[in-house]
Amino acid sequence: MFDLIVRGGTLPDGTQADIAISGDRIAAVAPGITAEAAEVIDATGDLVAPPFVDPHFHMDATLSYGLPRVNASGTLLEGIALWGELRQIATVDEMVARALTYCDWAASMGLLAIRSHVDTTPDHLNTVTAMLEVQKQVKPYIDLQLVAFPQDGLYRSATGRENLIRALDMGVEVVGGIPHFERTMADGAASLSDLCRIAADRGLMVDIHCDETDDPLSRHIEMLAFEAQRLGLQGRVAGSHLTSMHSMDNYYVSKLLPLIAEAGISAIPNPLINIVLQGRHDTFPKRRGMTRVKEMQAMGIPVGWGQDCVLDPWYSLGTADMLDVAFMGLHVAQMTHPDEMARCFTMVTETNAAIIGLQDYGLHKGAMASLVVLDAATPTEALRLRPARLAVIAKGKVIARSARGDAALSLPGRPGSVRRRAPRG
Ligand code: FE2
Repeated sequence: MFDLIVRGGTLPDGTQADIAISGDRIAAVAPGITAEAAEVIDATGDLVAPPFVDPHFHMDATLSYGLPRVNASGTLLEGIALWGELRQIATVDEMVARALTYCDWAASMGLLAIRSHVDTTPDHLNTVTAMLEVQKQVKPYIDLQLVAFPQDGLYRSATGRENLIRALDMGVEVVGGIPHFERTMADGAASLSDLCRIAADRGLMVDIHCDETDDPLSRHIEMLAFEAQRLGLQGRVAGSHLTSMHSMDNYYVSKLLPLIAEAGISAIPNPLINIVLQGRHDTFPKRRGMTRVKEMQAMGIPVGWGQDCVLDPWYSLGTADMLDVAFMGLHVAQMTHPDEMARCFTMVTETNAAIIGLQDYGLHKGAMASLVVLDAATPTEALRLRPARLAVIAKGKVIARSARGDAALSLPGRPGSVRRRAPRG
Protein backbone atom coordinates (compact mmCIF):
# COMPACT_ATOMS: atom_id res chain seq x y z
CA MET A 1 0.00 0.00 0.00
CA PHE A 2 1.56 3.24 -1.21
CA ASP A 3 0.51 6.79 -0.41
CA LEU A 4 0.38 7.81 -4.07
CA ILE A 5 0.87 6.27 -7.50
CA VAL A 6 1.36 8.27 -10.72
CA ARG A 7 0.22 5.80 -13.36
CA GLY A 8 1.12 5.34 -17.01
CA GLY A 9 3.26 8.43 -17.54
CA THR A 10 6.07 8.81 -20.05
CA LEU A 11 9.42 9.67 -18.50
CA PRO A 12 11.78 12.15 -20.20
CA ASP A 13 13.84 9.27 -21.66
CA GLY A 14 10.72 7.94 -23.40
CA THR A 15 10.08 4.92 -21.18
CA GLN A 16 6.65 4.37 -19.66
CA ALA A 17 6.42 3.66 -15.95
CA ASP A 18 4.30 3.98 -12.86
CA ILE A 19 5.83 5.89 -9.97
CA ALA A 20 4.91 4.80 -6.44
CA ILE A 21 5.43 7.14 -3.51
CA SER A 22 5.61 6.46 0.22
CA GLY A 23 6.00 9.44 2.53
CA ASP A 24 8.38 11.91 0.90
CA ARG A 25 10.29 9.30 -1.13
CA ILE A 26 9.87 7.49 -4.43
CA ALA A 27 9.33 3.86 -3.46
CA ALA A 28 9.28 2.28 -6.93
CA VAL A 29 9.53 3.16 -10.62
CA ALA A 30 8.29 0.35 -12.86
CA PRO A 31 5.66 -0.43 -15.49
CA GLY A 32 2.36 -1.88 -14.28
CA ILE A 33 2.66 -1.53 -10.49
CA THR A 34 -0.37 -3.43 -9.17
CA ALA A 35 -0.25 -2.45 -5.51
CA GLU A 36 -2.92 -0.22 -4.03
CA ALA A 37 -2.41 3.42 -3.17
CA ALA A 38 -4.34 5.97 -1.15
CA GLU A 39 -4.33 8.27 -4.18
CA VAL A 40 -3.80 7.59 -7.88
CA ILE A 41 -3.00 10.13 -10.60
CA ASP A 42 -3.66 8.92 -14.15
CA ALA A 43 -0.81 10.26 -16.31
CA THR A 44 -1.45 8.03 -19.31
CA GLY A 45 0.05 9.68 -22.38
CA ASP A 46 1.48 12.56 -20.36
CA LEU A 47 5.08 13.49 -19.64
CA VAL A 48 6.21 12.88 -16.06
CA ALA A 49 9.44 14.69 -15.24
CA PRO A 50 11.47 15.53 -12.19
CA PRO A 51 10.75 19.08 -11.03
CA PHE A 52 12.18 22.14 -12.74
CA VAL A 53 15.20 23.77 -11.13
CA ASP A 54 16.24 27.42 -11.50
CA PRO A 55 19.96 27.87 -10.77
CA HIS A 56 19.94 31.68 -11.00
CA PHE A 57 17.33 34.03 -9.61
CA HIS A 58 16.94 37.26 -7.60
CA MET A 59 14.09 36.69 -5.18
CA ASP A 60 14.73 39.81 -3.12
CA ALA A 61 13.86 41.95 -6.16
CA THR A 62 11.12 39.87 -7.75
CA LEU A 63 7.62 41.25 -8.46
CA SER A 64 8.81 44.82 -7.90
CA TYR A 65 8.40 45.96 -11.53
CA GLY A 66 7.74 49.70 -11.68
CA LEU A 67 9.12 50.36 -8.19
CA PRO A 68 10.24 53.05 -7.75
CA ARG A 69 9.79 53.49 -11.55
CA VAL A 70 10.40 51.46 -14.69
CA ASN A 71 13.82 50.99 -16.28
CA ALA A 72 13.59 53.43 -19.19
CA SER A 73 16.89 52.58 -20.90
CA GLY A 74 16.49 48.83 -20.47
CA THR A 75 20.14 48.49 -19.45
CA LEU A 76 21.80 46.48 -16.70
CA LEU A 77 23.26 49.64 -15.20
CA GLU A 78 19.93 51.50 -14.90
CA GLY A 79 18.48 48.33 -13.36
CA ILE A 80 21.24 48.27 -10.74
CA ALA A 81 20.64 51.97 -9.98
CA LEU A 82 16.86 51.47 -9.61
CA TRP A 83 17.34 48.47 -7.34
CA GLY A 84 19.79 50.55 -5.28
CA GLU A 85 16.92 52.93 -4.52
CA LEU A 86 14.31 50.23 -3.95
CA ARG A 87 16.35 48.17 -1.49
CA GLN A 88 16.62 51.21 0.78
CA ILE A 89 12.84 51.66 1.05
CA ALA A 90 11.47 48.10 0.72
CA THR A 91 10.59 46.58 4.09
CA VAL A 92 11.33 43.02 5.12
CA ASP A 93 7.59 42.29 5.15
CA GLU A 94 7.15 43.63 1.61
CA MET A 95 10.04 41.56 0.27
CA VAL A 96 8.79 38.43 2.03
CA ALA A 97 5.26 38.92 0.66
CA ARG A 98 6.47 39.43 -2.91
CA ALA A 99 8.80 36.44 -2.71
CA LEU A 100 6.08 34.18 -1.30
CA THR A 101 3.76 35.18 -4.15
CA TYR A 102 6.53 34.33 -6.59
CA CYS A 103 7.03 30.96 -4.87
CA ASP A 104 3.31 30.26 -5.35
CA TRP A 105 3.81 30.83 -9.07
CA ALA A 106 6.90 28.62 -9.05
CA ALA A 107 5.12 25.80 -7.22
CA SER A 108 2.24 25.91 -9.69
CA MET A 109 4.73 25.53 -12.56
CA GLY A 110 6.59 22.60 -11.03
CA LEU A 111 9.63 24.77 -10.22
CA LEU A 112 10.66 23.28 -6.89
CA ALA A 113 14.32 24.20 -6.42
CA ILE A 114 15.73 27.71 -6.80
CA ARG A 115 19.17 29.23 -6.25
CA SER A 116 18.60 32.90 -5.49
CA HIS A 117 21.25 35.59 -5.21
CA VAL A 118 20.59 37.93 -2.27
CA ASP A 119 21.98 41.45 -2.36
CA THR A 120 24.33 41.88 0.59
CA THR A 121 25.19 45.52 -0.21
CA PRO A 122 22.89 47.45 2.18
CA ASP A 123 24.22 47.67 5.72
CA HIS A 124 20.77 46.82 7.14
CA LEU A 125 20.84 43.45 5.33
CA ASN A 126 17.02 43.46 5.24
CA THR A 127 17.34 41.54 1.99
CA VAL A 128 19.10 38.69 3.77
CA THR A 129 16.70 38.74 6.72
CA ALA A 130 13.74 38.57 4.33
CA MET A 131 15.10 35.78 2.16
CA LEU A 132 16.11 33.60 5.12
CA GLU A 133 12.51 33.93 6.32
CA VAL A 134 11.18 32.95 2.88
CA GLN A 135 13.58 30.00 2.75
CA LYS A 136 12.14 28.74 6.03
CA GLN A 137 8.51 29.22 5.00
CA VAL A 138 8.73 27.48 1.61
CA LYS A 139 10.93 24.60 2.79
CA PRO A 140 8.07 22.05 2.76
CA TYR A 141 7.76 22.44 -1.02
CA ILE A 142 10.64 24.49 -2.49
CA ASP A 143 14.36 24.07 -1.89
CA LEU A 144 15.58 27.67 -1.83
CA GLN A 145 19.36 28.05 -1.87
CA LEU A 146 20.75 31.52 -1.14
CA VAL A 147 23.87 33.18 -2.55
CA ALA A 148 25.55 36.12 -0.81
CA PHE A 149 25.71 38.59 -3.69
CA PRO A 150 27.60 41.89 -3.31
CA GLN A 151 25.56 43.68 -6.01
CA ASP A 152 27.53 46.94 -5.79
CA GLY A 153 30.89 45.19 -5.69
CA LEU A 154 32.96 43.43 -3.04
CA TYR A 155 35.40 46.38 -3.00
CA ARG A 156 33.54 49.12 -4.90
CA SER A 157 31.02 49.35 -2.07
CA ALA A 158 32.70 50.53 1.15
CA THR A 159 31.16 47.78 3.28
CA GLY A 160 30.83 45.19 0.50
CA ARG A 161 33.22 42.59 1.87
CA GLU A 162 32.18 43.03 5.49
CA ASN A 163 28.49 42.63 4.65
CA LEU A 164 29.07 39.56 2.51
CA ILE A 165 30.80 37.89 5.46
CA ARG A 166 27.95 38.95 7.76
CA ALA A 167 25.44 37.34 5.37
CA LEU A 168 27.41 34.08 5.32
CA ASP A 169 27.49 34.15 9.12
CA MET A 170 23.68 34.58 9.11
CA GLY A 171 23.31 31.33 7.17
CA VAL A 172 23.55 32.22 3.49
CA GLU A 173 25.19 29.20 1.93
CA VAL A 174 26.86 30.15 -1.39
CA VAL A 175 29.51 32.82 -2.14
CA GLY A 176 28.67 35.29 -4.93
CA GLY A 177 30.49 38.13 -6.68
CA ILE A 178 30.42 40.59 -9.56
CA PRO A 179 34.00 41.18 -10.78
CA HIS A 180 33.02 43.15 -13.90
CA PHE A 181 31.35 45.77 -11.68
CA GLU A 182 34.42 46.42 -9.52
CA ARG A 183 36.30 49.65 -10.29
CA THR A 184 39.12 48.07 -12.27
CA MET A 185 39.94 44.79 -13.97
CA ALA A 186 42.57 44.29 -11.27
CA ASP A 187 40.00 44.75 -8.50
CA GLY A 188 37.72 42.29 -10.31
CA ALA A 189 40.48 39.69 -10.40
CA ALA A 190 41.39 40.32 -6.76
CA SER A 191 37.74 39.95 -5.73
CA LEU A 192 37.65 36.48 -7.29
CA SER A 193 40.77 35.34 -5.43
CA ASP A 194 39.26 36.69 -2.21
CA LEU A 195 35.82 35.12 -2.75
CA CYS A 196 37.18 31.70 -3.77
CA ARG A 197 39.43 31.69 -0.69
CA ILE A 198 36.43 32.53 1.52
CA ALA A 199 34.49 29.66 -0.05
CA ALA A 200 37.38 27.22 0.28
CA ASP A 201 37.92 28.09 3.94
CA ARG A 202 34.22 27.69 4.74
CA GLY A 203 33.56 24.66 2.51
CA LEU A 204 31.00 26.54 0.41
CA MET A 205 30.03 26.68 -3.25
CA VAL A 206 30.70 29.72 -5.45
CA ASP A 207 28.40 31.36 -8.02
CA ILE A 208 29.75 34.48 -9.69
CA HIS A 209 27.93 37.00 -11.87
CA CYS A 210 30.81 36.83 -14.34
CA ASP A 211 31.48 39.03 -17.36
CA GLU A 212 27.85 40.11 -17.80
CA THR A 213 28.94 42.68 -20.34
CA ASP A 214 29.44 43.07 -24.09
CA ASP A 215 33.12 43.94 -23.58
CA PRO A 216 35.17 41.10 -25.11
CA LEU A 217 38.09 42.06 -22.86
CA SER A 218 36.05 41.25 -19.75
CA ARG A 219 37.84 37.95 -19.06
CA HIS A 220 37.19 37.36 -15.36
CA ILE A 221 36.11 33.81 -16.10
CA GLU A 222 39.81 33.09 -16.70
CA MET A 223 40.69 34.09 -13.13
CA LEU A 224 37.67 32.22 -11.75
CA ALA A 225 38.89 29.06 -13.50
CA PHE A 226 42.42 29.63 -12.21
CA GLU A 227 41.30 30.01 -8.60
CA ALA A 228 38.86 27.08 -8.79
CA GLN A 229 41.60 24.69 -9.90
CA ARG A 230 44.25 26.20 -7.59
CA LEU A 231 42.03 25.83 -4.51
CA GLY A 232 40.56 22.44 -5.46
CA LEU A 233 37.02 23.79 -5.89
CA GLN A 234 36.21 21.60 -8.90
CA GLY A 235 32.46 20.91 -9.13
CA ARG A 236 31.62 23.69 -6.66
CA VAL A 237 31.94 26.80 -8.82
CA ALA A 238 29.52 28.32 -11.33
CA GLY A 239 30.00 31.23 -13.71
CA SER A 240 26.68 32.97 -14.34
CA HIS A 241 25.93 34.93 -17.54
CA LEU A 242 29.41 34.89 -19.18
CA THR A 243 27.97 37.06 -21.94
CA SER A 244 31.25 38.72 -22.93
CA MET A 245 32.25 35.35 -24.36
CA HIS A 246 29.91 36.09 -27.29
CA SER A 247 32.39 38.71 -28.49
CA MET A 248 35.72 37.23 -27.42
CA ASP A 249 38.38 36.44 -29.95
CA ASN A 250 38.01 32.85 -31.14
CA TYR A 251 41.68 32.03 -30.63
CA TYR A 252 41.51 33.17 -27.02
CA VAL A 253 38.34 31.11 -26.45
CA SER A 254 40.13 28.03 -27.79
CA LYS A 255 42.51 28.39 -24.85
CA LEU A 256 39.84 29.45 -22.34
CA LEU A 257 37.31 26.62 -22.67
CA PRO A 258 39.75 23.82 -21.72
CA LEU A 259 40.73 25.85 -18.64
CA ILE A 260 37.05 26.15 -17.61
CA ALA A 261 36.60 22.40 -18.13
CA GLU A 262 39.76 21.59 -16.15
CA ALA A 263 38.54 23.76 -13.28
CA GLY A 264 35.22 21.89 -13.10
CA ILE A 265 33.24 25.11 -13.50
CA SER A 266 29.58 25.14 -14.56
CA ALA A 267 28.04 27.84 -16.73
CA ILE A 268 24.63 29.44 -16.18
CA PRO A 269 23.44 31.59 -19.10
CA ASN A 270 20.20 33.50 -18.51
CA PRO A 271 18.62 33.86 -21.95
CA LEU A 272 15.41 35.77 -21.16
CA ILE A 273 17.20 38.62 -19.46
CA ASN A 274 20.38 38.78 -21.50
CA ILE A 275 18.65 38.84 -24.88
CA VAL A 276 17.08 42.13 -23.77
CA LEU A 277 19.90 43.61 -21.64
CA GLN A 278 22.88 43.02 -23.89
CA GLY A 279 23.70 44.79 -27.13
CA ARG A 280 22.03 48.00 -25.94
CA HIS A 281 25.06 50.06 -26.96
CA ASP A 282 25.27 48.38 -30.38
CA THR A 283 23.90 49.80 -33.59
CA PHE A 284 23.98 47.05 -36.24
CA PRO A 285 24.90 44.27 -36.35
CA LYS A 286 23.44 43.97 -32.84
CA ARG A 287 24.88 41.22 -30.64
CA ARG A 288 22.90 38.51 -28.87
CA GLY A 289 23.43 38.34 -25.12
CA MET A 290 24.33 34.68 -25.21
CA THR A 291 27.50 32.93 -24.19
CA ARG A 292 28.91 29.97 -26.16
CA VAL A 293 26.52 27.29 -24.95
CA LYS A 294 27.01 24.47 -27.44
CA GLU A 295 30.76 25.05 -27.58
CA MET A 296 31.06 24.69 -23.80
CA GLN A 297 28.86 21.60 -23.78
CA ALA A 298 31.07 20.04 -26.45
CA MET A 299 33.98 20.48 -24.02
CA GLY A 300 32.07 18.69 -21.26
CA ILE A 301 31.34 21.88 -19.29
CA PRO A 302 27.92 21.63 -17.56
CA VAL A 303 25.62 24.38 -18.83
CA GLY A 304 22.19 25.06 -17.32
CA TRP A 305 19.59 27.69 -18.20
CA GLY A 306 18.78 30.23 -15.48
CA GLN A 307 15.82 32.58 -15.23
CA ASP A 308 17.45 35.48 -13.34
CA CYS A 309 14.52 37.88 -13.11
CA VAL A 310 10.72 38.10 -13.09
CA LEU A 311 8.99 41.49 -12.99
CA ASP A 312 11.82 43.49 -11.47
CA PRO A 313 14.09 46.47 -12.35
CA TRP A 314 15.89 44.40 -14.99
CA TYR A 315 13.12 42.36 -16.62
CA SER A 316 9.53 43.41 -17.18
CA LEU A 317 8.01 39.99 -17.94
CA GLY A 318 8.34 36.43 -16.63
CA THR A 319 6.14 33.64 -15.32
CA ALA A 320 8.30 31.31 -13.17
CA ASP A 321 8.13 28.82 -16.04
CA MET A 322 11.53 27.27 -16.73
CA LEU A 323 10.13 26.08 -20.07
CA ASP A 324 9.93 29.75 -21.13
CA VAL A 325 13.59 30.08 -20.17
CA ALA A 326 14.62 26.97 -22.09
CA PHE A 327 12.48 28.02 -25.07
CA MET A 328 14.29 31.34 -25.34
CA GLY A 329 17.66 29.69 -24.79
CA LEU A 330 16.94 27.16 -27.52
CA HIS A 331 16.25 29.97 -29.96
CA VAL A 332 19.09 32.31 -29.09
CA ALA A 333 21.68 29.50 -28.95
CA GLN A 334 20.20 27.91 -32.11
CA MET A 335 19.76 24.51 -30.44
CA THR A 336 17.27 23.19 -32.97
CA HIS A 337 18.61 19.69 -33.64
CA PRO A 338 16.30 17.12 -31.98
CA ASP A 339 19.11 16.09 -29.61
CA GLU A 340 19.76 19.73 -28.71
CA MET A 341 16.08 20.46 -28.07
CA ALA A 342 15.85 17.46 -25.78
CA ARG A 343 19.01 18.66 -24.05
CA CYS A 344 17.39 22.04 -23.36
CA PHE A 345 14.76 20.23 -21.28
CA THR A 346 17.47 18.29 -19.43
CA MET A 347 19.26 21.59 -18.74
CA VAL A 348 16.30 23.01 -16.76
CA THR A 349 15.87 19.77 -14.82
CA GLU A 350 18.80 17.39 -14.22
CA THR A 351 21.69 19.65 -15.23
CA ASN A 352 20.48 22.55 -13.10
CA ALA A 353 19.95 20.21 -10.15
CA ALA A 354 23.52 18.96 -10.48
CA ILE A 355 24.93 22.49 -10.81
CA ILE A 356 23.38 23.66 -7.54
CA GLY A 357 24.24 20.39 -5.79
CA LEU A 358 20.64 19.35 -5.13
CA GLN A 359 20.50 16.07 -3.20
CA ASP A 360 18.16 13.11 -3.84
CA TYR A 361 16.91 14.54 -7.14
CA GLY A 362 15.41 12.49 -9.97
CA LEU A 363 12.88 9.82 -10.80
CA HIS A 364 14.40 6.76 -9.19
CA LYS A 365 13.78 4.65 -6.12
CA GLY A 366 14.89 6.46 -2.97
CA ALA A 367 14.84 9.92 -4.53
CA MET A 368 12.80 12.77 -3.08
CA ALA A 369 9.21 12.33 -4.30
CA SER A 370 9.00 15.57 -6.26
CA LEU A 371 7.79 15.54 -9.85
CA VAL A 372 5.61 17.27 -12.38
CA VAL A 373 3.00 15.88 -14.82
CA LEU A 374 2.83 17.89 -18.05
CA ASP A 375 0.17 18.07 -20.76
CA ALA A 376 2.74 17.01 -23.39
CA ALA A 377 4.02 13.71 -24.73
CA THR A 378 7.76 14.42 -24.84
CA PRO A 379 10.29 16.94 -23.51
CA THR A 380 10.48 18.59 -26.93
CA GLU A 381 6.71 18.93 -27.09
CA ALA A 382 6.81 20.43 -23.61
CA LEU A 383 9.22 23.06 -24.93
CA ARG A 384 7.04 23.76 -27.95
CA LEU A 385 3.81 24.14 -25.92
CA ARG A 386 4.94 25.25 -22.43
CA PRO A 387 1.79 23.34 -21.43
CA ALA A 388 -0.33 23.01 -18.32
CA ARG A 389 1.26 21.38 -15.29
CA LEU A 390 -1.51 18.83 -14.72
CA ALA A 391 -0.12 17.87 -11.32
CA VAL A 392 2.83 19.00 -9.23
CA ILE A 393 4.04 16.76 -6.41
CA ALA A 394 6.51 18.17 -3.87
CA LYS A 395 8.15 15.95 -1.25
CA GLY A 396 5.34 13.39 -1.54
CA LYS A 397 2.41 15.82 -1.51
CA VAL A 398 0.23 16.96 -4.42
CA ILE A 399 0.59 20.74 -4.19
CA ALA A 400 -0.90 21.96 -7.50
CA ARG A 401 -3.20 20.84 -10.27
CA SER A 402 -4.11 22.54 -13.56
CA ALA A 403 -6.64 21.77 -16.29
CA ARG A 404 -5.53 20.79 -19.78
CA GLY A 405 -5.17 23.65 -22.22
CA ASP A 406 -7.75 22.46 -24.74
CA ALA A 407 -9.95 25.10 -26.37
CA ALA A 408 -13.63 24.69 -27.29
CA LEU A 409 -14.29 25.64 -30.92
CA SER A 410 -17.42 26.77 -32.74
CA LEU A 411 -16.45 26.35 -36.39
CA PRO A 412 -18.56 25.08 -39.31
CA GLY A 413 -17.65 21.46 -40.13
CA ARG A 414 -14.79 21.26 -37.63
CA PRO A 415 -14.45 19.23 -34.41
CA GLY A 416 -15.68 20.87 -31.23
CA SER A 417 -12.37 21.19 -29.47
CA VAL A 418 -8.73 21.71 -30.36
CA ARG A 419 -5.64 20.18 -28.82
CA ARG A 420 -2.30 21.73 -29.56
CA ARG A 421 -0.41 18.52 -28.92
CA ALA A 422 1.04 16.97 -32.05
CA PRO A 423 -1.00 14.18 -33.68
CA ARG A 424 0.45 10.70 -33.13
CA GLY A 425 0.52 8.05 -35.85
FE1 FE2 B 1 21.65 37.67 -11.80
